Amino acid sequence: MKQDFLDYISETFEFSEAELQEFEAALSIPLKKTIRVNTNKISIADFQKRALENNWTLTETSLWKNMFYIDRDDTSVALWHTLEHISGYFYVQELAASSSPYYMTDDTVDEGEYTILDMSASPGGKTTQLAEYYPNSLIIANEIDKTRMRQLHENLDRLGAKNSFVTNYDGRFLKNFPETFDKILLDAPCSGEGTAYKSDDALKYWNLKNIKQVAKLQFQLLESAFIALKVWGELVYSTCTLNRIENEEIINKLTDKYWDFFNIISLSDNLDTPLIRAWPHKNKTGWFFVVKLRKNSSFEIEIDTEKLQTHTQGFEKISRKDKKQISGYLKKSFWLKLSGKFYVYRNEVYYTEKNIDFFWEHFFLFKTGIKIGKLENGTFEPNFFLWTNFWVFEKKSIEVDKESINRLLRWEEVAMNNSTSDGHYQVSHNSFLAGMARIKNGKMKSVLESRFMRK
Ligand SMILES: C[S@@+](CC[C@H](N)C(=O)[O-])C[C@H]1O[C@@H](n2cnc3c(N)ncnc32)[C@H](O)[C@@H]1O
Repeated sequence: MKQDFLDYISETFEFSEAELQEFEAALSIPLKKTIRVNTNKISIADFQKRALENNWTLTETSLWKNMFYIDRDDTSVALWHTLEHISGYFYVQELAASSSPYYMTDDTVDEGEYTILDMSASPGGKTTQLAEYYPNSLIIANEIDKTRMRQLHENLDRLGAKNSFVTNYDGRFLKNFPETFDKILLDAPCSGEGTAYKSDDALKYWNLKNIKQVAKLQFQLLESAFIALKVWGELVYSTCTLNRIENEEIINKLTDKYWDFFNIISLSDNLDTPLIRAWPHKNKTGWFFVVKLRKNSSFEIEIDTEKLQTHTQGFEKISRKDKKQISGYLKKSFWLKLSGKFYVYRNEVYYTEKNIDFFWEHFFLFKTGIKIGKLENGTFEPNFFLWTNFWVFEKKSIEVDKESINRLLRWEEVAMNNSTSDGHYQVSHNSFLAGMARIKNGKMKSVLESRFMRK
């Protein structure tokens, strides 16, 4: 119950009556909408230019370089149906919830080649953030819940996280791969109290019994992550809750068991409180807790070797013939040379630049890199995202007016000058690329998948 929650907070954090009132009032204040510019696809300056053209007001958040408050006068088109969103130029993300990857990276792009695990990844807000800050790293995005996978896949494709791979394990299983990952994010499943700013229901069923139940799982996940972390690797643990049971107490339990094997890395200037807790009434953000640690030595653990079985994948490595066909098409039509690896699932073609031999052998993969198109009767059909993920090619591009762009996004045909030959084209408007479309018999149609279509 909400009152139990308020009593817990006020007792645990020794709130005065005035602060408690301020805190309670803040719970029902809607948060300002924030977005993260995906600098893997567009520079902040270019995005600001585009926003200006659309009459969107972007205001810096003063926390992270690529997080902005966004205000729009005209909201007739939902934010996620805008061309910029569909093209993966930004991700709608709550400010505090975006903070764990920033603390992992110190808000700096790291070109190193690491093996990273995002242990509980859906819908992929933080995985795509990691892909942005570690562009050359291999990222395993793991999610237990198959119903939440589709959104994860879509976000990875849309934002162009081409070195990410999806798995579907209970995170507790991953301890069977000790000292495998250089960096691990455990954005843990939690009691959900931090969603109170979205709905009153979040606190309706708040009780300590539920919280202790979730905390048990959180500790098991954290321990599994800690075992899977390499020596000198870094682990960030976060939740969108404020209570201590799901936060400090989880870290304390790890300390009790492994005190000799890790250090907490301070995230604040105050060394007595090296963690970060974002409060609704102080920070004007959602609630969030982050802590970061570094493993400093090895320890023995017993591995269930049966679990390390070799897997047969649903994906196939592409045949030489198909690879030649796709590479030839991309080179001839778009001057695009892709030198990474191609995989095929049914007739869909996936692409990545990472070598995944170890994971190919030991993990069952649900996604290998990003989807770039499909093979239909032996012919390669590029998808909408190809142009935003590899947008250096300009050979076949065509300039259209704004109305045509809107028609394309609604999946309507645009009549073309009959002399334009059939085939796939990059479409641009006012020198901004605006999608990939196919021209057939003088008519242009977007190749955007119908689920992204603007209603
Ligand atoms: C807080 S959400 C993650 C949000 C995500 N990091 C993002 O930023 O988009 C926690 C996720 O953990 C998943 N989860 C729950 N139990 C799990 C388990 N035992 N192993 C792995 N993932 C789990 C949930 O399905 C949920 O998608």
